Amino acid sequence: MRLLITAGPTHEPIDAVRFLGNRSSGRVGTALAETAADMGWDVRLLMGPYAMVPEHGNIDIARFQSTADLEKLLEKHLPWCDMLIMAAAVSDFTPVVPKDCQQTKWRRGDDAPILQLRPTPDLLKGCSERARADQTLVGFALEPDETLVSSALRKLERKAIDFIVANPLETMDADRIAATIYARGGEAIASTDGPISKQTFATWLLDQLESASAVTLRECRSSHGT
Ligand code: CTP
Repeated sequence: MRLLITAGPTHEPIDAVRFLGNRSSGRVGTALAETAADMGWDVRLLMGPYAMVPEHGNIDIARFQSTADLEKLLEKHLPWCDMLIMAAAVSDFTPVVPKDCQQTKWRRGDDAPILQLRPTPDLLKGCSERARADQTLVGFALEPDETLVSSALRKLERKAIDFIVANPLETMDADRIAATIYARGGEAIASTDGPISKQTFATWLLDQLESASAVTLRECRSSHGT
C-alpha cells in the first residue's frame, strides 16, 4: 500500500512576516504516517508548519506552508499513491496580499488596515476530480457535535471521496479523539468506542480503511470484469 498523507495547519501569508493560521498540531497525521510505516506501507507525508516530525526513519517527508504550496505537492504526489488521507487543516480563505507588502512588512498607517480574504480551492475535491478509479481518497470533517453527521455526509458527497472521518470539534489540539467513518453513499462503517488516544486511533483507522478499501476495490474490479 502506498499512502500519501497530509498533516498540520496551513499558514497563509499576510505579508513577508505575518500569516493566517490555525491550531492544528498535526499529531493525528503524524501518528497515522508512523503507524502505516510500522505496518510496512510506503508512506509520503506532506507536513505543514510546526507539525510534529515523525521519528520513524522510513517516511518520505515534504513540507508546505500555504494552501498553494500544498496544492502543488498534491499535484506532484497524487499519481504515486494507492490511498490519500487528507488530515491537514487546510485554510478555506487566504489574504489578498497588496503587491507592496509581499516582500516586506505591512506598515502601521493612519487608517485601520482592512484584510481582504479570498477563498482557497478545495484541494481534496480537486484530487477526486483527477484521481484514478483504483485510488482511495479519505477526508476528515471536524465539526460541532450537533451538526457532525450531516456536515460530514455533505462533505463526503461534495468532494466525491470514498471515506470521511467525522470528529467532534474538541478533537483539534486534544490528546484523545472520537470518530466515525462514513463510506460513499453515507453508510457508517465503524465508530471508535468513545474517545481514544491518537496512537490507538491511528491503528484503528488504518485497519478499517485497509479492509474497507479492499472490499471497495474488489467490488469495483468485479463490476468492470477485471
Ligand atoms: N480540505 C481541502 N481543501 C480545502 C479545505 C479543506 O482539501 N480548501 C480538506 C481537509 O483536509 C479535510 C476535508 O477537506 O480532509 C474537510 O475539511 P473542512 O475544513 O472540514 O471542510 P471544508 O471543505 O472547508 O468545508 P466547510 O467550509 O463546509 O467546512
